[in-house]
Amino acid sequence: MIKETRALTEHPFNVNVFCHAPAQRNLTLETAWLRHLELLFAEVNLRAPTTLNEIYLPFEQDSQTLKLLLDVRPAIVSFHFGLPSEAHLMALHQAGIYTMATATNLREAQMIEQAGVDAIVAQGIEAGGHRGMFDPTVVDEGLTTAVLTRLLVQRTQLPVISAGGIMDGQGLKAALDLGAAAVQLGTAFLLCPESDASAAYRVNLKNAPTIGTRLTATISGRPARGLVNRFITHGEASNGVTPAAYPVAYDAVKQLHAAAVKQGNYEFAAHWAGQGAPLAREMPAADLIQQLLHEWHDAE
Ligand SMILES: Cc1cc2nc3c(=O)[nH]c(=O)nc-3n(C[C@H](O)[C@H](O)[C@H](O)COP(=O)(O)O)c2cc1C
Repeated sequence: MIKETRALTEHPFNVNVFCHAPAQRNLTLETAWLRHLELLFAEVNLRAPTTLNEIYLPFEQDSQTLKLLLDVRPAIVSFHFGLPSEAHLMALHQAGIYTMATATNLREAQMIEQAGVDAIVAQGIEAGGHRGMFDPTVVDEGLTTAVLTRLLVQRTQLPVISAGGIMDGQGLKAALDLGAAAVQLGTAFLLCPESDASAAYRVNLKNAPTIGTRLTATISGRPARGLVNRFITHGEASNGVTPAAYPVAYDAVKQLHAAAVKQGNYEFAAHWAGQGAPLAREMPAADLIQQLLHEWHDAE
């Protein structure tokens, strides 16, 4: 993917890695979770698996990815769910790579600053996709992008990149007015023809005002915001059965989704989207960038 992207542009781009704590396996809990999902597996004529796998490793345990990054040297590497070790971070910096890490509160931002990372992504509760919180077991205050941006601009020395709910030039301007050095948009690009979103994902996005989004740990085992579907409502109605640890829980839903899709059923997909989903626009990514710039300048 890095090679393909380089072939398409001379501009710098960001490679993102997950720095989550390794999954704490709990077979009793995993079995109970699979039992809760049995009904859904039956709907797609599949027997629920009896065991689940940790489908990918944290960056820290994945020496191949570090080696790859040091070889190909993307301009930026960003970290989600925590920080890499001092040694990994130093190796990336010595290779001339600019680093960024996601914070969802001030404490995480201070850890990022102390570690020597170059910039902070301030991810508000509005954001689509996984919430970058370092420890998903701590109580989450759910700070909005606006509050978090202001807090981090005031209390850290690093450039702050606002992320969460920014969908147009007006939103972009608001974040910059709060002191952000830049903005990061995810959901705004999902309807672009260049995005990897499936046809069913796009239909659901267009129905976002009715469907709504939810922050849920049921899909992957970690809180993430996506368009509400049958998997999420079933998972949330679990009567106290908790999802398997991240990313072990993801294994179950990915198996379920793969079988369901063959039957034209998209109710078990991870259709990540932020609260701003109803504001997403369908146009080529380059046009959307131009549009964002026009709106920003018009709002000045
Ligand atoms: C479909 C989708 C996938 C995402 N995947 C990642 C990811 O792999 N790593 C990451 O750090 N953030 C990921 N995010 C979160 C974005 O980096 C960003 O925080 C978020 O999109 C900002 O909020 P917005 O969606 O309201 O624009 C994802 C977001 C979406 C919508």
